[in-house]
Amino acid sequence: MRKRLVAGNWKMHGSRAETAKLLNELVQLEGPKIKAEVAVCPPFAYLSDAVRLLKESTLQVGAQNVCAEPVGAFTGEISAAMLKDVGCRYVIVGHSERRTLFHEDDQLVARKFMAVQAHKMVPILCVGESLEERERGVTEQVIARQLDAVLTVAGVAAFADAVVAYEPVWAIGTGKNATPEQAQDVHAFIRGRISGRDDKIAAGLRILYGGSVKAANAAELFAKPDVDGGLVGGASLKSEEFGRICAAA
Ligand code: PGA
Repeated sequence: MRKRLVAGNWKMHGSRAETAKLLNELVQLEGPKIKAEVAVCPPFAYLSDAVRLLKESTLQVGAQNVCAEPVGAFTGEISAAMLKDVGCRYVIVGHSERRTLFHEDDQLVARKFMAVQAHKMVPILCVGESLEERERGVTEQVIARQLDAVLTVAGVAAFADAVVAYEPVWAIGTGKNATPEQAQDVHAFIRGRISGRDDKIAAGLRILYGGSVKAANAAELFAKPDVDGGLVGGASLKSEEFGRICAAA
């Protein structure tokens, strides 16, 4: 049985005070209604605050990005060792905003994935097609390419301690989520791609859906057999809304 996971990707939002307020509100939401595992991914600057404020709670902390290099003269970068050191459990790698705006290619994403695991944290590997790719009918080819880049260098065994997030680029921050059927189709494809190498690892792999998840659509998305939770952007910045998404999972 895969334990559901809901992760909030806060992106570059909030001040230190707002972060503390949101975290304190999230702690209040904990209770019997929420059975899924819950993680929050604040900006780097507030990771230590988050770890401290969530110390007594079951909420996990994740980072939104990491440097692929272990240490050295890389001005402005943050290493996996540092993220582990401050108390992160998860690290998002390959988010479409990183791929598009910061020109991260599949090979760099694969190296980041491995850097995270080398420090015993869990990568949340984001994959997803653009609108143009979906309309051209190449969604599965794109997802396969993104997955295979990691499979090739890390091996299938690495997916025993990883999470995959399917995030169609056209659904991110647009208010236009994939339908539950569209999500299920791609999630099943992802699981199939992994099971082509190892059935058991595929069966245990958590695959999250991301892209305009909100309280109003979470339950029907999470009802699909291969959707194991969500990676939530905008709606994770409002504690009540996020709490309802977590409860739906
Ligand atoms: P969104 O973002 O929920 O605001 O669409 C999701 C994400 O980018 O992870």
